[in-house]
Amino acid sequence: MSKNTLTITDNRTGKTYELPIENDTIQAADLRKIKVKEDDFGMMSYDPAYMNTASCKSTITYIDGDKGILEYRGYPIEQLAEHSSYLEVAYLLLYGELPSKDRLDWWVYRISRHTFLHNSLVELIQAFRYDAHPMGILISSLAAMSTLYPEAKKVEDPAIREKQIWRILGMIPTVAAFAYRHRIGRPFNNPDNSLNYTANLLYMMDYMNQPDYEVKPILSKALDILFILHADHEQNCSTATMRNVGSSRVDPYCALSAAASALYGPLHGGANEAVIRMLNTVGSVANIPNFIDRVKKGETRLMGFGHRVYKNYDPRAKTIRKVAYEVFDVTEGSPLLEIAVELERIALQDDYFIERKLYPNVDFYSGLIYQALRFPIEYFPSLFAIPRASGWLSQWLEMLDDSEQKIARPRQVYLGHQRRDYVPINER
Ligand code: CMC
Repeated sequence: MSKNTLTITDNRTGKTYELPIENDTIQAADLRKIKVKEDDFGMMSYDPAYMNTASCKSTITYIDGDKGILEYRGYPIEQLAEHSSYLEVAYLLLYGELPSKDRLDWWVYRISRHTFLHNSLVELIQAFRYDAHPMGILISSLAAMSTLYPEAKKVEDPAIREKQIWRILGMIPTVAAFAYRHRIGRPFNNPDNSLNYTANLLYMMDYMNQPDYEVKPILSKALDILFILHADHEQNCSTATMRNVGSSRVDPYCALSAAASALYGPLHGGANEAVIRMLNTVGSVANIPNFIDRVKKGETRLMGFGHRVYKNYDPRAKTIRKVAYEVFDVTEGSPLLEIAVELERIALQDDYFIERKLYPNVDFYSGLIYQALRFPIEYFPSLFAIPRASGWLSQWLEMLDDSEQKIARPRQVYLGHQRRDYVPINER
């Protein structure tokens, strides 16, 4: 008869333990019952990089990497990208359901009333060196917001939490746009709240008093779709950071600043930038066979291909490919497009990539779109951080309301010296 338990025999002692299985998972804490001597600490599992450890129960994002499925609150990403808007998706992630028309209007209004920055924050951004990286400014500004809104410390108060969420989603595009304008030495454009979320971002970045200035709807729509695709991706490095830091009950600005720092790393939010650098190195379609040979010899990687979770086409990559062509139609496109298309075609037919289940991921085309929109490469991670803020905040709320969660505190396997006595410096 089948039973929902796991039986473990410890061959050191011959003792057998029966552990309950729930959701195909055992509780790591149950392993502590496994001991040789009564005063032992008990068995732990060793899992560097959390390769096989679920750190939370979540109802936000579902991924099936083998089948190439990504869903937010049960809705397939393809349907959301086609029919929804970024702010509606942010609402879905945060509140768990799609909003009614009235609720969506209320939500958009609340966000749009929190787009202006406190003057101290504007001065802080201006104080950065002329060539400061936009992510450095964004990370610092998020942490600085904690000093401007001290009531945010009351993380147990739902009304106070909600207010910080409006502020963060409202202000993060403004901070990112100001960071960009600072770097290019141009005056800041205050937000225009009559524009939608992404049109306002493009306006704040681009506007230079042109009398006939208008954000092309197709471009703001393309950016909005990219924002939907990047809004959440369950327990990745930056989201796990948000939860870990937030578990100390610090305010959401400090936790978000930490999450954005994690995203800044080249192994996480920097891959789309790496794709552009790779395509520049390849240089021409004629050089592709030689480049693919080098990839197969392990001398370099085909950036924008492969994924830890997706062993099938990344569902976001399919949508992004379509958006890319729409953007290229109304812009000068990217000089690297021809190389990218040919690289993808060759790789998808090559046994090396087929056997290893290496398909294009979200970053293969996102960098090309950003380039066509004339964003500088250093700005790419900010374009990831802005929409991911809604995912980070949803996961933060879920963590705070989860009675099983405590302050995050992993264990270690200590392999250092046994106790030894201090040696005076002249005797070493
Ligand atoms: N080009 C060439 N070979 C590759 C690649 C690649 N992009 N990715 C994996 N492989 C090979 C790898 O050499 C290994 O081959 P072998 O079995 O012969 O040693 C095999 O495929 C398995 O690779 P792995 O490194 O064990 O796979 P992983 O799951 O640890 O790595 C990855 C996932 C995303 C780090 C990796 O595929 C990679 O480095 N891709 C390029 C960088 C990239 O595009 N990153 C963006 C990821 S999407 C962003 C997001 O979702 O946040």
